[in-house]
Amino acid sequence: MATSREWQVERLGGGAPGAPGPVERWTILGEPRRNSLTLAMLHGLAELQARAAADRALRVVILTGAGDRAFCAGADLKERARMGDAEVAGFHRALRDALAGLEALPQPVIAAINGAALGGGLELALACDLRVAAEGIEVGLPEVGLGIIPGGGGTQRLARAIGVARAKDLVLTARRVDAVEALAYGLVTRAAPPGALREAALEMAGEVARNAPVSLRQAKRAIDGGFHLPLEEALDLENRMYQDCLQTKDRVEALKAFAEKRRPVFTGE
Ligand code: COA
Repeated sequence: MATSREWQVERLGGGAPGAPGPVERWTILGEPRRNSLTLAMLHGLAELQARAAADRALRVVILTGAGDRAFCAGADLKERARMGDAEVAGFHRALRDALAGLEALPQPVIAAINGAALGGGLELALACDLRVAAEGIEVGLPEVGLGIIPGGGGTQRLARAIGVARAKDLVLTARRVDAVEALAYGLVTRAAPPGALREAALEMAGEVARNAPVSLRQAKRAIDGGFHLPLEEALDLENRMYQDCLQTKDRVEALKAFAEKRRPVFTGE
């Protein structure tokens, strides 16, 4: 599929009736600079998101980095050194928009953390819905050791993902943790040997992609949208998301498939 200088896009799976719908793998093509974040790469990510949001057949996105050294080493510090204040501000705006865009995608996004995820790299993974890591990787938010603080949502999304105390343990010490600790913290929910990460991410994608697309979208909205609401408001939101599923052909298909003792074939309608 389409490949730019910054991103490789591969369409995987789908096709056979009853098979999980298509999955896309988006790979950051920046191995020599450890897949660090450039402005062009963020613009490329925004373009991928716009296309995915309009693609009703696409069920799940896997986001990963080229090579096995880094998922993403944060901001490209060499590009940063050439930027003036206004350009740095523009970069941060683009980063914020790109990460918010990932969160807002109708499809679930899986971060396949193939190597180090540091600073903006971990923030990128935190904007994904699910995270699976290769054993042997390291993740962390080193910013306070560099005279700054996480500026791509790290202080907020990390605390929301793993709780305030654990987020403070990582942010205030600036330490890097391995996959075992990341797993224990719930920062990632699965880990695999490095050679098996692609397979593990695809397996997770398949487990998600076989479900009803409208249900996936509504469940993601209900969890993300309700997390910080008072419980009663959150339950109202869940109910609205639930009601939308009742109108779908896929709900009828699931009931029919159950009666006929077969797997449902979902169309996303
Ligand atoms: N921006 C730009 N270039 C980067 C980079 C970054 N954030 N991180 C690594 N690189 C470059 C290095 O400068 C080096 O380039 P060179 O070959 O021109 O010298 C190349 O990537 C390889 O780096 P190296 O450190 O040798 O790779 P490694 O595989 O041993 O280690 C990391 C990978 C990611 C663990 C290590 O590079 C690292 O810790 N990077 C800094 C992460 C960081 O602090 N990010 C900023 C957070 S605010």
